[in-house]
Amino acid sequence: MKLLVTGGAGFIGSNFIRYMLKEHPSCWVINLDKLTYAGNLENLRDCENNPRYKFVKGDICDAKVVNRLTAQVDAVVNFAAETHVDRSILTPESFIETDVRGTFTLLEAAKKYKIKRYIQISTDEVYGSIAKGSFTEKSHLSPNSPYSSSKAGGDLLVRSYFITYKVPTIITRSSNNFGPAQYPEKIIPLFITNALEDKPLPLYGDGKNVRDWLYVVDNCRAIDAVLQRGREGEVYNIGGGNEITNRVLTNLILKQLGKPSSLIVRVPDRPGHDRRYSLDCSKLKKELKYAPDTDFTTALTETVNWYCTNQSWWKKLKNKDFKKYYAQQYKTKS
Ligand code: NAD
Ligand code: DAU
Repeated sequence: MKLLVTGGAGFIGSNFIRYMLKEHPSCWVINLDKLTYAGNLENLRDCENNPRYKFVKGDICDAKVVNRLTAQVDAVVNFAAETHVDRSILTPESFIETDVRGTFTLLEAAKKYKIKRYIQISTDEVYGSIAKGSFTEKSHLSPNSPYSSSKAGGDLLVRSYFITYKVPTIITRSSNNFGPAQYPEKIIPLFITNALEDKPLPLYGDGKNVRDWLYVVDNCRAIDAVLQRGREGEVYNIGGGNEITNRVLTNLILKQLGKPSSLIVRVPDRPGHDRRYSLDCSKLKKELKYAPDTDFTTALTETVNWYCTNQSWWKKLKNKDFKKYYAQQYKTKS
């Protein structure tokens, strides 16, 4: 199978490319990525000499490059997106451009070149927040941030291209991913790296918001199962089964690093902050016989250790631009 993977230089996309090249010896991958601040080709150093892998720098909103590449493949897996909720609150425009217009551009190409499979990588955030119980794939979309509404916009376009044009689409909606080499703006890598630098850990609000943590390789396995065996026109939830509050998560990180809880500082809450995400993943389990199999504590320990031993990787990313964003986001001096 020849795949066009978009956003493959990002956190989940790079793990997916590595996974597919390793698990499927007949799989070829073209990685189309704009290399925004979140794209990092270092994440794929071990793949760059693989004859079954090719990188193309480009934008998913650019129909010319998207058409040229789509014409060469059997399936498209779209990871490319602006992904950070806090940045979507500060500067929403690029989210609408990439997550909506970019998705539209890819769908048009998938239609034109009669692609065999189009997989849209989406998020549990499109359902909004849930106090009790869990969202199923039939739950209403109720996004609360510019990020989640731009992703919901992309999902609705994907649905319409299946219904109207019979483009063979499938959507996956996963919970919060974690693992090595995640850009240090998201809570786990931010808090690990701040703690290693003895800097404050800015916990939003009361710290009792709940997220369900999914080890990134488990997500890649699930996406592979959906790509191979999922039903066209369907949505599949992918959760980790590890729901914990941010405060508990933060204390686990500090404990492992042997750092004091005095590093935690309470900062004003994120506007529109979703209280809890929770996914019902029985469809994935029943239809595709998939369930995550990584132990959360073990994977978190490995992740913390990875940041301890790969300090040059993240120190390069906490550069001038990052410090500018950080100062604006947390209203501190960079
Ligand atoms: P990321 O921010 O680490 O990477 C995004 C990648 O997309 C980067 O390599 C970036 O350069 C690229 N990109 C951005 N705009 C582009 C454009 N216009 N054209 C081409 N490339 C572009 O993201 P991630 O955390 O790996 O997330 C990947 C996908 O998974 C996203 O669609 C996101 O919404 C979804 N998702 C993420 C999580 C999570 O916890 N990280 C959970 C659920 C769903
Ligand atoms: O749920 C899936 C989503 O998970 C993905 O779709 C998004 O792309 C991804 O960014 C992530 O969104 P979150 O907003 O849940 O992740 P983030 O790491 O930004 O925040 C996780 C929780 O931690 C959230 O409740 C906010 C809180 N937080 C985050 C940061 C960055 C803090 O308390 N302090 C912080 O500094």
